[in-house]
Amino acid sequence: MKATAVAPANIAFIKYWGKKDEALRLPLNASISMNLSEAYTKTTVEFSKEFTSDQVEFFDAKSLDPQEILRVSKHLDRLREMKGVSLRAKVATKNTFPKSSGIASSASGFAALTVAGSVALGLSLSEKELSILARIGSGSACRSVPDGFVEWKTGDTSEESYAYSLYPSSYWDLCDVLVIVASSEKKISSTKGHEAVQASLFFHSRLMSLSERIERVKEGLKKRDLGILGPAIEKEAINMHAVMMTQTPALFYWTSATMDSIHAVIRWREEGLQVYFTIDAGPNIHLICEAKDAKVVAQKAETIHGVEQVIINKPARGAHLV
Ligand code: DP6
Repeated sequence: MKATAVAPANIAFIKYWGKKDEALRLPLNASISMNLSEAYTKTTVEFSKEFTSDQVEFFDAKSLDPQEILRVSKHLDRLREMKGVSLRAKVATKNTFPKSSGIASSASGFAALTVAGSVALGLSLSEKELSILARIGSGSACRSVPDGFVEWKTGDTSEESYAYSLYPSSYWDLCDVLVIVASSEKKISSTKGHEAVQASLFFHSRLMSLSERIERVKEGLKKRDLGILGPAIEKEAINMHAVMMTQTPALFYWTSATMDSIHAVIRWREEGLQVYFTIDAGPNIHLICEAKDAKVVAQKAETIHGVEQVIINKPARGAHLV
């Protein structure tokens, strides 16, 4: 009754920001992402009669937020309910990247927990069922289940809202040069942020303008054309952060190092380097380029003031057992 799974973090090209059902985590819009090869979570789940309560260990974590343990335990309850058992579990989890600083730590975390937990309990679930379950743990986690380049359908019911692979990881040699400018945990979680989205006067116009960007992102992926994909994902990231900054309370995830990185990307592009940025719920910045340019982009990023770490990611397969 023990299993270990690995799940990648994912970077959203089209962002999930705002829910129509908080408890079920049904999103207000579809989103599109790419799984990241070097930013992942490895989780072992063991169920046993000997455990009297759920135990959660995060490798390297200084202290564990009780809310976080509760969120994991609630997710295990969903699996226990499906299997019809009440066994408690021990969960040991490790990230290859800083937790809770907007590199979708909950996405890879809940995808790995879902796969390891369901297998440890002997549940045999389809990719779609795993994606739905992961979504209820953390919305973006549903996109870490399928392979490569992924779309999460909005859906009106829980059964309709899941992610599926648009293209496998081998489809395009795209890279995400992840620039870590802050490895400390963010103060306001994305869950809290989603709740305040309607307060932004720009949120309605964001939703109205999304379908055009979704089409551009899909076209860029289909044609493997960064000249189409790049501007669309940059526009999308700026749009989501404009909504975040105009919510109540306002969410400013960017730091001065984020801003310096944005200016640098624009400058490098003017100099002929094909690279575009996107940012999730945190200050870290993802530089999207083709594999042939990834090393140069990474070397340049390392020289920006305030940059702590640079990780080159390729597209990756989804959550799987190890
Ligand atoms: C800005 O999936 O972390 O990264 O469902 O409340 O766990 P919860 O939110 P979460 O939100 C991620 C938001 C985002 C954009 C994205 O990944 O699409």
